[in-house]
Amino acid sequence: MIFSSFVISDKEPIYVQICNHIKDNIEAGMLQKGSKLPSTREVSNVLKVSRNSVVTAYEILESEGIIKSVKGKGTFIDKVSRNSKDNFNVDWSSMINEYGEACTKLDILKTELPYKKGMISFKSIAPEEGLFDLEEFKRAFLNVCSMEGDKILNYGYAKGYNKLIDYLMKYMQEKGVNTEGKDILITNGFTEGFDIVLSSLTKAGDSIICEEPTHNTAIKIMKTHNLNIVGVPMDLDGINTKELDKQIKETNPKLAYIIPSYHNPTGIVMKGEKRQEVYKICEKYSVPIIEDGFNEELLYSSSHVPPLVSLSTEGNGVVYIGSFSKILFPGLRIGWIMADKNLIGALESVKRARTIHCSFIDQAILYQYMNSGAFTKYVKKVRKYYRDKYRFTLEEVKKNIPYECIMGEGGLHIFIKLKGISSRDVLAKCYEKGVLFMPGDIFYSGSGGEFTMRIGFSRVKKEEIKKGIKIIGDIVKEMS
Ligand SMILES: Cc1ncc(COP(=O)(O)O)c(C=O)c1O
Repeated sequence: MIFSSFVISDKEPIYVQICNHIKDNIEAGMLQKGSKLPSTREVSNVLKVSRNSVVTAYEILESEGIIKSVKGKGTFIDKVSRNSKDNFNVDWSSMINEYGEACTKLDILKTELPYKKGMISFKSIAPEEGLFDLEEFKRAFLNVCSMEGDKILNYGYAKGYNKLIDYLMKYMQEKGVNTEGKDILITNGFTEGFDIVLSSLTKAGDSIICEEPTHNTAIKIMKTHNLNIVGVPMDLDGINTKELDKQIKETNPKLAYIIPSYHNPTGIVMKGEKRQEVYKICEKYSVPIIEDGFNEELLYSSSHVPPLVSLSTEGNGVVYIGSFSKILFPGLRIGWIMADKNLIGALESVKRARTIHCSFIDQAILYQYMNSGAFTKYVKKVRKYYRDKYRFTLEEVKKNIPYECIMGEGGLHIFIKLKGISSRDVLAKCYEKGVLFMPGDIFYSGSGGEFTMRIGFSRVKKEEIKKGIKIIGDIVKEMS
């Protein structure tokens, strides 16, 4: 109550003192526009003064436009506080540290050309939300509420929701992984998993091997950890193994980050023999592999290719990071790290130190959804949908865009190398015509990729794919 500190003096009339007290409180920022004042009766009771004095004070303040009474509701402050002392300003931009600056500089959502309403955008590789089976998801949510009860909204465990962990253990076994001596940590998607692994295992200046090109977010994370990124060029069937061997010998890397299936941005699926070769090279030099298994469920054409982690039958040299962001719902932000038990023990503490744990209700719903069989049905549906769309887009690209090569055999995107034409120059012209795509250079840790582009088709309608690819093709032809 604003009058609790009010001391009445006999130097001025009481109504004047009440007016001044309210004005002082406004000036000091204690009363904001819209704050409700106590009623005149309450004030007269608290201050033990006549109600008339309070009514007079309120009438004066109202006539000055400082307060306003609303019939049936009460009296409110109507003037914005003009606090002369309110000059607590901080120059935040001068306080942003090296990490904050690096994240801002590498934030492609801020640095790349923005989407504008009505454009045809091939930038994203997010899933098509029209495919999401919301009804099954709602059912899973209701089941969680009735089975788990109130406790699902309480704190959970850093490692994750036990039933989901057990489910994922079996899921990994079905992929051919020997889970003996391994454990799982649930993370906020691949992105957090990768960041936690690098935070726990590397220090600034360490070298890390990756495919060149590679996932832009992974580049950002490696850069913000001040790692020396050693990009190994890719052939049409995946990482160049001769170069991999050479680079490992020369740079003595701490880790190797590899995306064996539906690689982003190339779409390449590394075949079995190549996986063996990569695994053997890393094993020879004792370089642990971080395997990004984000899209391996897509399976457009070939049958299941076992992940690299399945090659380390008794060993613990592979850290597998999985994610449901492409094959299921990215908004849930659920991924997992499967690795050696002791390593997971350490990563669990890092997770707890940073964010305590991922949302338990989300993990529980996901578990319910998967365990009900809805996931298997959904995966079948999306595979077919994306495969058809991939083939359609590929056809359109081949018909319309003069290219040097098209890499890969799928994913939610097509990676094209143009014949010596800068994709950024093409993009600038396409933008004027309302078409957007990802210039390939963002997938290179240093320079490179000038003539490449990634066409993400997952959320673009077929008519728009047709129209957009034709526009890109016409501009490339014009520039050839
Ligand atoms: C190579 C790769 N890994 C993982 C992911 C998924 O990341 P997250 O699980 O953090 O959404 C993506 C998304 O585009 C990706 O391209």
